[in-house]
Amino acid sequence: MNGVVLISGNGSNLQSIIDNASGIDLNISCVISSNSDAYGLKRAEKAGIATAVIDHQLFDSRFKADKEIMKVIDDSRAVVIILAGYLRILSPEFIEKYIGKILNIHPSLLPKFKGLNTHQRAIDAAEKIHGASVHFVTEELDGGPVIAQSSVEIDSTDNAKSLASKVLNKEHILYPKIIHWYTQGKIKLIDNQNVQLDGQII
Ligand code: GRF
Repeated sequence: MNGVVLISGNGSNLQSIIDNASGIDLNISCVISSNSDAYGLKRAEKAGIATAVIDHQLFDSRFKADKEIMKVIDDSRAVVIILAGYLRILSPEFIEKYIGKILNIHPSLLPKFKGLNTHQRAIDAAEKIHGASVHFVTEELDGGPVIAQSSVEIDSTDNAKSLASKVLNKEHILYPKIIHWYTQGKIKLIDNQNVQLDGQII
């Protein structure tokens, strides 16, 4: 299955997807970055994957920038859109066009800690368990239905950095697995709010 990966930064999740691509039946047709300095672009180039940089600051509306992204997606015949550390909010028009085909990984056990700085917020809230979630993207920021989660324990010695690293290790295992479910047709978004796994609502 052809898919694009959208990034803004380091791209360690992108790397885990690249490393697992053949086993999960994914052909990454393009890596699209919102930031020309993203290290993930180098990872893509090293793997021989086409790249595109679409910097929203060069457009006078979110939708105009998203139209450029849509063009790259459609030109590369991608049918799944994988957000992996993509730090831009997508326009409603974009989401409507690809609804059910957009996956995201978020570094918290949703619905807890939507948004940014999730690791520090989990520590500040004295959580004992934290983790990552893969979900379908809908118009509600970090609010689309969760497909699967992976958790870690928060130790008394953890700080935001150590916790981020523990969670990332889990992300690198979780995301390729869920992408594989998607490429095998095991998961579907139903009515913009439920996930079906092997035909059963979860
Ligand atoms: C990850 O923590 C992911 O959950 C979040 O952004 C971070 C991206 O990290 N959406 P990387 O760029 O994949 O290393």
